[in-house]
Amino acid sequence: MRSSNLNLALSLVVFACACGDDTTFTPPATPHFGESTTDELLAAMTLEEKVDQMHGASFAPVNDLYETPKNERLGIPGLRMVDGPRGVRAGHATAFPVAAARAATWDPELERRVGAAIGEEASAKGATVLLAPTINVLRHPAWGRAQETYGEDSTLIGDMGTAFVMGAEEHVLACAKHFAANSIEDTRFDVNVTIDERALREVYLPHFRQLVTEGGVSVVMSAYNKVNGQYASENEHLLSDILKGDWAFEGFVVSDWVFGTHSTAPAANAGLDIEMPSGTYFGPLLVEAVHNGSVDEAVIDDAVRRILDKQLAASLKPISDASVVESDEHRSLARDVAVEGMVLLKNEGVLPLAKPTGQSTVAIVGALASIANLGDTGSSAVTPTSAVAPLDGLEALVGAEHTVFLPGPSLSAADLTSLQGVDAAVVVVGLTSDDEGEGVATKGGDRETLRLSSEDEALILSVAANAPRTVVVLEAGSAIVVRPWVDQVGAVLMAWYPGLEGGNALASVLFGDAAPGGRLPVSFPADEADLPVFDHSSLEVQYGFLHGYRYLDAMGRNPEFAFGFGLSYTTFEMTNLVLDSTSKASGDVLTVSVDVENTGARAGDAVVQIYVHPESSEVERAPRDLRGFARVPLAIGEKRTVDVPLSVDAWAYFDVATNQFVLEPGDYVVEAGSSSRELPLNATVTISP
Ligand code: GLC
Repeated sequence: MRSSNLNLALSLVVFACACGDDTTFTPPATPHFGESTTDELLAAMTLEEKVDQMHGASFAPVNDLYETPKNERLGIPGLRMVDGPRGVRAGHATAFPVAAARAATWDPELERRVGAAIGEEASAKGATVLLAPTINVLRHPAWGRAQETYGEDSTLIGDMGTAFVMGAEEHVLACAKHFAANSIEDTRFDVNVTIDERALREVYLPHFRQLVTEGGVSVVMSAYNKVNGQYASENEHLLSDILKGDWAFEGFVVSDWVFGTHSTAPAANAGLDIEMPSGTYFGPLLVEAVHNGSVDEAVIDDAVRRILDKQLAASLKPISDASVVESDEHRSLARDVAVEGMVLLKNEGVLPLAKPTGQSTVAIVGALASIANLGDTGSSAVTPTSAVAPLDGLEALVGAEHTVFLPGPSLSAADLTSLQGVDAAVVVVGLTSDDEGEGVATKGGDRETLRLSSEDEALILSVAANAPRTVVVLEAGSAIVVRPWVDQVGAVLMAWYPGLEGGNALASVLFGDAAPGGRLPVSFPADEADLPVFDHSSLEVQYGFLHGYRYLDAMGRNPEFAFGFGLSYTTFEMTNLVLDSTSKASGDVLTVSVDVENTGARAGDAVVQIYVHPESSEVERAPRDLRGFARVPLAIGEKRTVDVPLSVDAWAYFDVATNQFVLEPGDYVVEAGSSSRELPLNATVTISP
């Protein structure tokens, strides 16, 4: 957690409070924009009018929306952009659980519904562009914005992000951000990420490609940082060779805010289409650049064609009614997501708790229990009209007469005595926007440590030494090192930042009205030293081919809790892995079938995970890669065959010599199971040349 002058400036300029009065959006008079084709408009526009479409209208948002200029003469409405990945940062809106919690659901259909809900609320507030989803790889759990993305694995990020985009684009244009290799917060404005082409193409870009080619995302936001020596917003290899070339992206590229653009001609010629939030470089300087020949007008025409095409697409989408904002349906969805994303990490017969009756009580310990801990207060912040803290939810479910609240951080002798008489103690600890988040002024930034604070660790141990059974509830955006205290407690539940219904969701899980359904989207290491180094201070960093579970597997280090791991209130057995063929070729889909049975005493959701690795390879490979997954609800005793389709071309490596992906012929091991470290089933498929 640290601040920089740039962060301070950005916080003054960009993060104008989004907790103003709610705006009732008046739809624009139907512009004659729709009757003109883009080419007709381009032909009618002066150079100045074209360039006016390529930058924001002002540093400050209007009604919490960042605008690009309208053109009254031609009836072009301009764009209205709004954050963010867990809800609309404009007035009051539904604060959903953070993306990390939604990643933990491994449920793309649920994420599509979240994308649609946020897109609907953005539309109701007059926005045409939603600046979400964030899909940067969580290279290290200490990244300040870890909560904002879908974890460490490109397949999980790509499937969840694509689902979000499909939902959001029913109502507004969605924006995949931040392109690319933005995985450090404290030095984000200027850090240079050196990364070889294989790691770039196979680890840091595939999920962006998926959102473009499968999700049809309309907007891509270039990152603040440099990649291989060039700022992302003027990086021709990223924006033109790869995004608009190889991937044939037809939307537009928008810069990140204020410090996201660094030049006029280099940025325009590299493929940046809009500078936000205003026209420092893409205003009169860009007109001048065309006049002096440093930017060809054809470059301007391509950018404006992309912008107008997407503006037209946006203008054809339905404008949602204001009643959708914080609707009961959206609150209920947020609660369902919070439950499905909570990850039960340890449970020695403690959960679910019995609802206290008679004189019995449950202790709720820790100051966080009384706070609706919604997460980052930077650009992904959302301000709901109300939110349910853990204590509220627990008291609502079991009755205040059955709870005793001990805020801590230190416990008196009387507190410790009372702990000896309760049924159970629930300790709510973790991080807040002070400890991690977008580096805005003095808050957030990258984490100093993966452990809890020493106060929290001491509180846990003190409770565990006195209460008959202790449950630890963790609130944070990614992995926490639990080794110093985990053996002393009976149960551990990862609740993430669970959104405006988090307290009710938590209560329902703790007392068994609902089952925790999450699986980890990020590895929880036993010790931070087991992970690759996280350098959040120097301006030169190198990203390698391996991180997360792929790194731990390659180094032979055991995580505390593995990528994909999560317990339930029931048990499952996976058997009978069958491949639809043992021989495939490029372009084929391999269907992997697995039988899954609910062998426990409660209904629950299993998540079948499929990992693949070549038996041998010409190049360095991870020991295994997640290549597909499926979440399946099962009643008590129910057994179902789950089919997971895999595109075999996803197994190709990027050959730098020929600048193309190569699917190596040979045998590949297909493994199935319930986490990256629990893969009891395997089979072999041969890829023919
Ligand atoms: C911020 C963030 C970006 C956000 C933008 C507008 O600096 O990096 O994610 O969408 O500014 O608020």
